[in-house]
Amino acid sequence: MANLVVRGGRRLHGRVRIGGRKNSAVAVIPAALLANGPSVLENLPVIRDVDTYIAILRAMGVKVDRIGPHAIRIDPRHLEPIPPPDLVKEMRASYYLLGVFLGRYGYAEVPVPGGCDIGQRPLDQHLKGLRALGADVTIEHGVIRARADRLVGAPVYLDVVSVGATINIMLAAVLAEGTTVIENAAKEPHIVDVANLLNAMGARVVGAGTDVIKIRGVPRLKGASHAIIPDEIEAATFMMAAVATRGDVVVENVIPKHLDPITAKLREAGAEIEENGDWIRVTCSRRPTAVTVKTLPYPGFPTDAQQPMTALLSIAEGTSVVTDTIWEARFKHVDELQRMGTRIRVEGRTAIIDGVERLSGTHVRATDLRAGAALVVAGLVAEGETVIGGVEHIERGYELIHEKLGQLGADIQRVTEIPAPVAGRSQALARTQG
Ligand code: EPU
Repeated sequence: MANLVVRGGRRLHGRVRIGGRKNSAVAVIPAALLANGPSVLENLPVIRDVDTYIAILRAMGVKVDRIGPHAIRIDPRHLEPIPPPDLVKEMRASYYLLGVFLGRYGYAEVPVPGGCDIGQRPLDQHLKGLRALGADVTIEHGVIRARADRLVGAPVYLDVVSVGATINIMLAAVLAEGTTVIENAAKEPHIVDVANLLNAMGARVVGAGTDVIKIRGVPRLKGASHAIIPDEIEAATFMMAAVATRGDVVVENVIPKHLDPITAKLREAGAEIEENGDWIRVTCSRRPTAVTVKTLPYPGFPTDAQQPMTALLSIAEGTSVVTDTIWEARFKHVDELQRMGTRIRVEGRTAIIDGVERLSGTHVRATDLRAGAALVVAGLVAEGETVIGGVEHIERGYELIHEKLGQLGADIQRVTEIPAPVAGRSQALARTQG
């Protein structure tokens, strides 16, 4: 098992290149299965969730070739729509196979997907949308079965703004007969990204990025080339790390507009932020000040950045209040942060954070992906050594985080734990990478 070992106290400075957006990648990969021919996806992040999706595709007979460090070619012509249950259960985004298979074959059998443990993760809005298009949907013995003799476009009003349901319904509707209108749709930029790929494949999707999306079904789709948009949560994590360490960091290969909710909050906390074209420079020369944060669907403050933000605010001056309106159990990182000396009280979906001047390093464990990001931010400012376990969660969504932070001057190493009989901890950890 791997750990990240961080020795805190170094100011981050320099440039970091942000990769492609995880939550877009895990939607455009299955979207490519709707085509009759091969598609090329570029700017793919090298993360475990992408590797898992590629493994799911290969297990179903899809030819996936790596044609560059961040590019793949997907040829779905020999696709057998029987997904491997073990891999499907490893990630949430395998739910997109439902919409894809239903659209392409008129039936789908997909095990109920897994994903981060951050609260209840119902699929009722996905299923409501697929049923509106004419599918019979049941869940039995942990498998979702959907079948439709004819999939016919229909109006769908989402009761809650759901990224996954919006994309899943789009995926099913592009090959349906007639027009589907999704109202109260999610507006995240990766919904636009998926719509752009689908349109390049020959679909007719309009309105993505607004709360009403219209999809006019077409009989078939062809392969296309598509470059995935940058990952705003990876960028946000580096921006927060820069502020926490009172650093000076340029995050490159970003779309600054997508980061507006982050930029606004970090400015409020005392950071100086300059943006231009495809980069953002974040500097902070003093202790950040407390702010109030409430997560909301885009363009609100993203829930996925809430956890690293909590870590940053744990060393701010004053009392911050952070409310997660999206996930009811997304404060599991707080118990671990407490071990580093934070003063945080969680009441339901709200964390009340009394900022402390310093944190101290210890052994902590990432319980989910963004909890891991929070511990990394805390480790960068803590006195002494922080050893972060559960790195496999972090690597689901962050590409070489230790290398990128190392390039910015952080003292961070990824080490592999070796079961050692009586060795002290330092002998039991073998440093493997920079
Ligand atoms: N919801 C329902 N019914 C549904 C679907 C969602 O009630 O059928 C509720 C959820 O319980 C939640 C809210 O609607 O309260 C929003 O959920 P959404 O469907 O938007 O989330 P998701 O599609 O399951 C994606 C990301 C998450 C991210 C959320 C919100 C992927 C694979 N996951 O999840 O990403 O937090 O959108 O932006 O795209 C992460 O990257 O760390 C992560 C957890």
